Amino acid sequence: MKVFVTHGLPGEYLELLAKKHEVEVWPERDISRADLLEKVKGVDAILSLLTEKMDRELMDAAGSNLKVISNYAVGFDNVDVPEATRRGIVVTNTPGVLTEAVGEHVMALMLSVVRRVAEGDRFIRAGKFKGWEPDTLVGSTVRGKTLGILGLGRIGKWTASLGCGLGMKTIYHSRSQDKGFEISCGVEYKARIEDVLQEADVLSINVPLTKETKGMIAAEQLAMMKKTAVLINTARGPVVDEADLIKALKDGVIAGAGLDVFDDETAVNPEFFEMENVVLTPHIASATVEARMFMAEMAVGNIEKVLDGEKPEALVNEEVWDRVKV
Ligand code: GLV
Ligand code: GLV
Repeated sequence: MKVFVTHGLPGEYLELLAKKHEVEVWPERDISRADLLEKVKGVDAILSLLTEKMDRELMDAAGSNLKVISNYAVGFDNVDVPEATRRGIVVTNTPGVLTEAVGEHVMALMLSVVRRVAEGDRFIRAGKFKGWEPDTLVGSTVRGKTLGILGLGRIGKWTASLGCGLGMKTIYHSRSQDKGFEISCGVEYKARIEDVLQEADVLSINVPLTKETKGMIAAEQLAMMKKTAVLINTARGPVVDEADLIKALKDGVIAGAGLDVFDDETAVNPEFFEMENVVLTPHIASATVEARMFMAEMAVGNIEKVLDGEKPEALVNEEVWDRVKV
């Protein structure tokens, strides 16, 4: 069967897949929309990136052979899942294998902001460091502070555990409470999101981007936070209203931010560049050798399974499974 892969992947997984199927890998960096629509014609499977819209137009372009869209990401907001389900197309993602990487990146951003790591690096490079002084770039200790987590999925849980490891009091708000996890880690569930916003010294966003979570942190929510609080976003840019966040950071409504995701990742808002209290990373929370290798294995494995008529490990639209025709 025919498989189109929009970008090269680490490991030998695509070579193995090519022993059984006709695999075409886009050889360049970014595929244009026009090339993508052309290349997917008549394929049975697409391996996509989170930057590529898998929408109705694309599914039309692919045609009725399309059986599976395997997204090389845990997030799948780029895929029109209801439309895929309506057409009997299986959608898969890569959960579980990048959990540690993302949790670690939340900690990296948090500590970079509160311990002023990026600022310190700029300070030295600018030739401003002239020797130890008691009041140079004083930050704060996270031990005893409150880590607020929005979304207690795998990543939220791992982030909570890491916060506990640093001696933080950890609270969360999520669609559902997990009492077992609370016992093991000593985290506390808050039924009201407002309580997390008001109590958190560090707020970590760990929800997927959906219609419900888009803009869930806007001016009103930021105003509930402590003036000393720091916001960390490793989920998706649009979960936070970016214009409101910029205003809150400028006006001192909150103290700082660590951001790995943005509204427009092809052109990050330059207003952030002027802010000393903001640490920016280029959507790299899952960018570890280990996570990316596992993601490749899983994304390819998902395609292989579906084309073999077996249920894939990471099925997003469970309800489609009974209706798939392979
Ligand atoms: C990365 O952002 C992912 O969703 O895997
Ligand atoms: C992703 O792996 C999540 O469930 O948070």
